[in-house]
Amino acid sequence: MAKAQYQGVKMKGVVLAGGLGTRLHPLTLITNKHLLPVYNKPMILYPLETLRRSGITDIMIVTGREHAGHFMNFLGSGKQYGVKCSFAIQDTNNGGIADALRYAEDFSQGQAVAVILGDNIFEQDFKKDIESFTSGAKVFFKHMEKPHRFGVPVFDASKKRIIRIEEKPKKPKSKYAQTGFYVYDNSIFKIINNLKPSPRGELEITEANNLYLKKGELSYSVIKGLWSDAGTFESLHKVSIEIAKRAV
Ligand code: G1P
Repeated sequence: MAKAQYQGVKMKGVVLAGGLGTRLHPLTLITNKHLLPVYNKPMILYPLETLRRSGITDIMIVTGREHAGHFMNFLGSGKQYGVKCSFAIQDTNNGGIADALRYAEDFSQGQAVAVILGDNIFEQDFKKDIESFTSGAKVFFKHMEKPHRFGVPVFDASKKRIIRIEEKPKKPKSKYAQTGFYVYDNSIFKIINNLKPSPRGELEITEANNLYLKKGELSYSVIKGLWSDAGTFESLHKVSIEIAKRAV
């Protein structure tokens, strides 16, 4: 896909904010995980701000039906936060990240999309990556001592080229974690339609990334600064403390 296609058309963003949040029970029986507090703000504002700082303001939030109204009550049109929000409601909430992304196909209007997981908190922005994106897919890694809870890239002997990304490997083959920020050209939607559920019954975003990799169309960067997901009590607590420290 030629770069010209994106010129003059602002890339859209998608926040994936579904899932059952079972690791955060009983809090997630009250509301969606992405509305729980991270220090002094509901979690969803962090990915929205990451997109906004990256130059993306037209944003779709994909969530499950259980607490969908809570998002709309809280965000409204998004104006107060400098963005324009659209909402898509998933029929099922256990299909995985790639399944959630399918709901944004019409919204993408045939263009590339920036996708962020609603529980991922980044200090850096992705402005340059988005401005220079042409085609294929781009993923972002963070150096980490124990990345077994995440997607982990396997590098070749040059230590620069990725051979594949393994999802939650028991024995990680590198010290990098795949973060929850991705940029995809529009072929992502065709790729997702051909995915088969993984052993955990989900359509895995890592599988989609591996398919781009096989075609030689996956690029990556290593991110700087704070990054955390906030999907467990431990990570939620830790990242809240980190953000509180930065706020003073
Ligand atoms: C998902 C992805 C994983 C990635 C992580 C980042 O994991 O499958 O590759 O490293 O997000 O937060 P999950 O949230 O399903 O555990």
